Amino acid sequence: MAAPTFDDAAVRAHAADAERRVAATADLDELDALDRELLGRGGQLVAWRRELGSLDEATRRELGRALTGATTSVGGAIAERREALARAAASRRLDEDRLLLDEVVDLAVVGPVERGHRHVVTTTRDELEDVFVALGFEVREGPEVETDWFNFEALNIPPGHPARGMHDTIYVEADVEGTVVLRTHTSPMQVRLMEAAAREGTLPLHVVVPGRVYRRDTPDASHLVEFHQIEGLVVDEGITFADLAGTIQAFTTAYFGEDIVARLRPSYFPFTEPSAEFDITCTICRGARCRTCGQTGWMELGGSGVIDPAVFAAVGIDPERWSGFAFGFGIDRCAFMRHQFSDLRALTESDVRFLRQF
Ligand code: PHE
Repeated sequence: MAAPTFDDAAVRAHAADAERRVAATADLDELDALDRELLGRGGQLVAWRRELGSLDEATRRELGRALTGATTSVGGAIAERREALARAAASRRLDEDRLLLDEVVDLAVVGPVERGHRHVVTTTRDELEDVFVALGFEVREGPEVETDWFNFEALNIPPGHPARGMHDTIYVEADVEGTVVLRTHTSPMQVRLMEAAAREGTLPLHVVVPGRVYRRDTPDASHLVEFHQIEGLVVDEGITFADLAGTIQAFTTAYFGEDIVARLRPSYFPFTEPSAEFDITCTICRGARCRTCGQTGWMELGGSGVIDPAVFAAVGIDPERWSGFAFGFGIDRCAFMRHQFSDLRALTESDVRFLRQF
């Protein structure tokens, strides 16, 4: 019989050391490797067990029990450690998920998602409406698709009239009698409003009409194909050119400020007589003459005039009793002058870096 190369104390020491190593493993991979090393076929416990066959029975039984005890306790320690590591991994995953949640919460703390706001043309239109409402005007709207009659003929612009050349018109193919256009200005609403008031006996009229208009133009820094105008119309008893001038000055001061004045320049429109274009003090140089205003100190804003008797005749209003004036100008141009941006096209380009400023 051979003498054993180990004893009970060696087995216990080996097991205690093995259990310390098991407890020190950092993850499941490390534990699996250690499991193979300690309990696998190449391990110390298995090697010692192989010796048992050559020992006397009493020693074999004693050392056999020691080896079984060691294998059981090391195996138990491994199972326990495996469970602990799995629990730790699961809770780490939960922690990671919570981190993600915390990030979301942090983003919310940074500020609410930007919600956008009204376009500068819309706010300009509202501001202009407010100014005119304060001056005693009513706000009305009308169709963007018009017949040739309202857009031109009733405004004293018959076919072939040279004034048509100033309006690059977009024509609409429509299954109705007569020519249909996208209105080139808001002036057709003069005709609609006067016709209705004459028919219904609801004169006088003090109305502004904001809205979209269209011209078949090549867009550039100061022209858009689709833009906005606001039309003013007053029909009452005893209205004179002085009322027109006073209204335009009142609007200019109210909207642009005390240091901006308006001037009227003789001009021509087929539906007003006399007619005037109106300019305002250049909002860039405040009249000091700069490049933007072509060294004039003035910026052109719109057209105006006293209602032509030919238009009163077309809509059935008695020119002996009533007189009136009208004006019209670009809303986009107004925003452009007030906020001093350099290119009207920016209004249609949806670049939030531009739009955010207003
Ligand atoms: N409708 C003219 C235009 O667009 C402006 C205007 C309006 C002129 C009212 C006179 C009276 O050019």
